[in-house]
Parts: sequence; C-alpha cells; structure tokens
Amino acid sequence: MCGIVGYIGKRPALPILVAGLKRLEYRGYDSFGFFALNDVSHFLLKKVGKISEWEEKILETDFKGNLGIGHTRWATTGEVTEKNAHPHWDCNREIYLVHNGIIENYQELKKDLVREGHCFVSDTDTEVFSHLIEEYLKNQNKLEEAVREALKKIKGNYAIAVVSKRDPGKLVVARLGAPLLIGLSDGEYFIASDPAAMISYTRQVINLDDNEIAVLTPQNHFVLKEKPIERIDWEIKEAQKNGFSHFMLKEIFEEPEVITEAIKGRIDFERGLARLGGLEQASEKLSKIERVIITGCGTARYAGMVGEYMFEEYAKVPTKVEVASEFRYRNPLLDEKTVLLAISQSGETADTLEAIREAKRRGSLTLGLVNRVGSSIARETDAGVYNRAGLEIGVAATKSFVSQLTILALLTVFLGRKREMSLVMGRRILEEINKLPQLAERILKQSDFIKELAEKYSEYRNFIYLGRKYNFPIALEGSLKLKEIAWKIHAEGICGGEIKHGPIALLDEDFPVVCIAPSDSVYEKMRNAIEEVKSRNGKVLAIVTEGNREIKELADDVVYIPKTLEMLTPILSVIPLHLFAAYLGLELGLDIDKPRNLAKSVTVE
Ligand code: F6R
Repeated sequence: MCGIVGYIGKRPALPILVAGLKRLEYRGYDSFGFFALNDVSHFLLKKVGKISEWEEKILETDFKGNLGIGHTRWATTGEVTEKNAHPHWDCNREIYLVHNGIIENYQELKKDLVREGHCFVSDTDTEVFSHLIEEYLKNQNKLEEAVREALKKIKGNYAIAVVSKRDPGKLVVARLGAPLLIGLSDGEYFIASDPAAMISYTRQVINLDDNEIAVLTPQNHFVLKEKPIERIDWEIKEAQKNGFSHFMLKEIFEEPEVITEAIKGRIDFERGLARLGGLEQASEKLSKIERVIITGCGTARYAGMVGEYMFEEYAKVPTKVEVASEFRYRNPLLDEKTVLLAISQSGETADTLEAIREAKRRGSLTLGLVNRVGSSIARETDAGVYNRAGLEIGVAATKSFVSQLTILALLTVFLGRKREMSLVMGRRILEEINKLPQLAERILKQSDFIKELAEKYSEYRNFIYLGRKYNFPIALEGSLKLKEIAWKIHAEGICGGEIKHGPIALLDEDFPVVCIAPSDSVYEKMRNAIEEVKSRNGKVLAIVTEGNREIKELADDVVYIPKTLEMLTPILSVIPLHLFAAYLGLELGLDIDKPRNLAKSVTVE
C-alpha cells in the first residue's frame, strides 16, 4: 500500500530511484512521482499510470542530483490524479516529501494550517506534513527537528522521507506503523518500504522502528536509538522474473520449492516431531493452552481456515478463525489459556497487527506465521515461525499460501505431539509432508493443459467454486484468486453442502462450477454436488485424485492431483487453481501482477 524510496550518496539518484520504485510497484501503481536535487537545480515529475511508461523519458533527462525521493501510490485519501501523486511540497516549494500510510487527523490539521495562510494544492492527507514541517522550520534550521515537531501533531501511521532546499544535503526519514528500511553502503544510503528496492546495491540494512527518525547524509547516519545492523538473506534473482512473463507465474512455479524451504531442518522423523525453533521460547505455554484463535486477512485467513480443520482433527485443540478486521471490534473473549496465531505474508497488514495488539492487551500469547523477516508482525508477536518463501512480488498471494499451509501442517504435529498425537501418527504426517514438493511438481507439469482450460473457460463471466471440509477454504481461495486476477469475472467460493440451499438457483449452461473433489472422507458428498450441478446443465471443471475414473464420466473437464493425506490435499489442490486464475487473467489481456485497485501490503485499516 504505497511504496517509498530515497537515495543520498555519490551517484545520480534518479536511475536508482526509478529502478527501486519499479520493484515496489506491487505496493501501489495508480500514480507515481520523483523529486531529485543538486546544488543548482532540481527534477520533479508526477504522473498517473505506471513508471515503466515513463522510464525512458525520465532517464533521458540525465539529471545529476545525488539526493532524491520517489513514491508509488495506492490511493487512500484523494482521487488518482497528478496533483494527488507524491511528492508533496510546502507553500514555498522548498520541502518535498513522500509518505506511505494514513493521517487520521489531517482534516483538522489542514483547517488550522489554511487559517494560518497555507495554500494546499492536493486533496491528500499527506500534504499537511509538508506544511507542518514548513511551519516548524520557521523557528529552526534543522530539518530533522522540524520533522520531529510535525510528527508530534500527527495521528495515524506513516513512513516518510523528506528533503529540504533550506537544509540541503540530507535525507530525513521516520516511521510509525509502516515499514521503512535504510540500506547502507560506502558513502551512500538507500531507503525503501521493502528490501526489494535496494538488494541490487546493498545487503546491510537498518530496520527503522516506530517513532524513530533517521538523518542521512552521504558521510553518515544518525538514528535516535542505536540500531543493530542486520542482513537481508534474499537473492537478487528473487526480485527478477527469471524467464517468466510475470511474477505471479514465476511464484506459482516456485510452490514446490517453498514447501521444501518451509520444512527444511524442521522435521524429526525419528521422534515424529516438528522442530520449530521460533516457538521454543513459548513451548511450555503452548503445552498448556486450551484454545487457538487464528487470524489474518484474505488469503492468509483462508490458510487459517485449513489450519482450523487440521488443529482440531489431529492436534485436538479447539480452534477458531477470526477475520482480523473484525476481531477487535467485537469484544473477543480471550485469556492466558488462549493463543492468537496471526498469519501474514507481508507482516505489515494493519488489521492483523491491530488484532495482535488487542489480544496482547487481553493477556493472550501471540504467535506469528510470517514471511517477511523483521516485519512489524514478526516483531510484535511473542514468538513465531517464518515461512522462508522468499520475496513475493505478484500482488496476489500464491506461493505464500502454499507455504502457510505447509507450516500449519507442521504446527499441527508440533501441537499434537504435545497432546494426544501418537508417535506413529506424527511420523505418518511428517512423511507425507516430505513427499509434497515432488507431488506439487507433478501438478505443474500439467500447466499447458490448465492453460488450455483457461482459454476454453474464458468466455464465461461467473464462476462458482465448490469444496468441502479441508477443501472448502480452497474453494474460497480459488474464487478469490480468479476475481482479483481475472477481474472481469465474478467468482464465489461455496461449501459443497450449501449449493442446494440457495446458490443452485444461479446455475445453467453459462455458469461453470469448479468442484474440488479429491478422494477423501467427503468425496461421496462432493460427487453428489457435482451430480446436482450437472442435472441443472451447469458446466463442471473438477479437481480429483489421480486414478479416479468416475468423475470423468460426469464432469466436463478434469484436472488430476496426486494422492496424499486428506489434511494435506489443500496444498496440492490449490496449485491448479492458482494456475487457472493466472492463465485466465492473461487470456483476458489483464496485468496479472498488478490487478486493478489492489495493493500487496494493506497497511491501512
Ligand atoms: C489475495 C491477497 C490478499 C492478502 C491479504 C493479507 O491474493 O493477496 O487477500 O492475502 O491482504 O495479506 P498479508 O498476508 O500480507 O497479511
């Protein structure tokens, strides 16, 4: 949700800012802007649309300033227009800043500033920042001090980067509730919302904490609190498409690999245990907890729903899934015997973070299942497990979902073996998890066939996805992916048993139904649902287990997945659905990496 970049050093800033911002476009891509300066002049550009359309023209200017900031926007306050794109400036056009986040009290601040004679040119909340800083710079020379005073007035969250012609040669950055990293190299600094924007230049980073302000000059940096230097362990190839036309496709093809990464070093076959180092410190408390609440948003919540089935069936822990955005508004009953498990790829989702804070206030232990190392959720939870799924750039979650399901399966063994789960059952589950990467590869081999199916089904505008038990959340995930990526299509995920309670009224020959019907404990029920659909002339695309001959007779098209334990089928059944959504989006001529209106990391409530 908006991305910011900045540079100060010895090289021309503009090419670095452009390259960095392109890597952040998944955070927002409705408009963008740059500001760079040198001793005598400056460069300013704001545009609606994508950076790539302007890249050549920007670089042709060959502007030589060594200091600059950039922003890619996902509109919250103010429409998508050039004037609302960042950077924003003050009345004298001396202070320029970019902002990721939201200022809740901007209307009152704006009213006061207008009364004092400030002229606003945009409809954004961000612009109050530049005018407030302008006010405080009247009484002092140091930009950082003016920023500090201005921030005291702000309610909301922010990551900001500010430069001023009145206090030149420095870049001031600050954060509260939105991610911000500072990259260090010899005689230069990089700032960004996400490491993807800087890993081509440096691996040495400082993760700025909430309420901290950093001042960067080419020679040195100063942060209010001394911060440890950390290392980014991603490879540059993760931020590249590596031969794929789109990040989303590349990331789906990485699904077998993320399963391998999720389980590497975490399985003890001998003792039938899952080794989750990040949970060691909470291990004793976890033996005693009586209830688990899993929370998250969107796809992460659907992963949680699969976790709910796994935990109750195999670990015998009462478990409930809560939509993070509802959690703190409905007075949840929590105590020290309850653990809240927050699932988030980005680790920055505002609704999920607030749910964690609420659970902490009420005395519960909080755990994170997070992909982004050092993210806010990773830091605010008491303990947790990292996905190790690498950078996910496609706006829609794909490989992170598969990774979340794999770790939830490990967590089932981790929790179960502290309770009634036998050694034999622990080993059995772990052995089956260990086979998943190979089985997932087998599904990807059918990608050409799935592409053909996407072409065939691209003429339809409404879909229903049906699944039961472990595959009900997969019906939700499959339909969410289709409607986000191929957004000209409406799709709904429904529990297989519910279709006859209403949605069946929709069905006719123009309404395809994707039925997830592996050979599991609810297979017969799903077969009945398929029969119900077929007898209303509905089109059926079925996902079934290899060796099943029956469904081929009933369904219009069939995709086969390999056999595994029932609790693990979602990890396989979702793969063809991810591919189907991606290929259908491409078939409709859409940008599958950046579906309209969406941002990858939703850092506002
Ligand atoms: C769907 C999607 C979203 C995210 C949701 C949570 O494809 O990407 O529904 O799953 O916004 O994001 P994280 O996992 O970063 O908390």
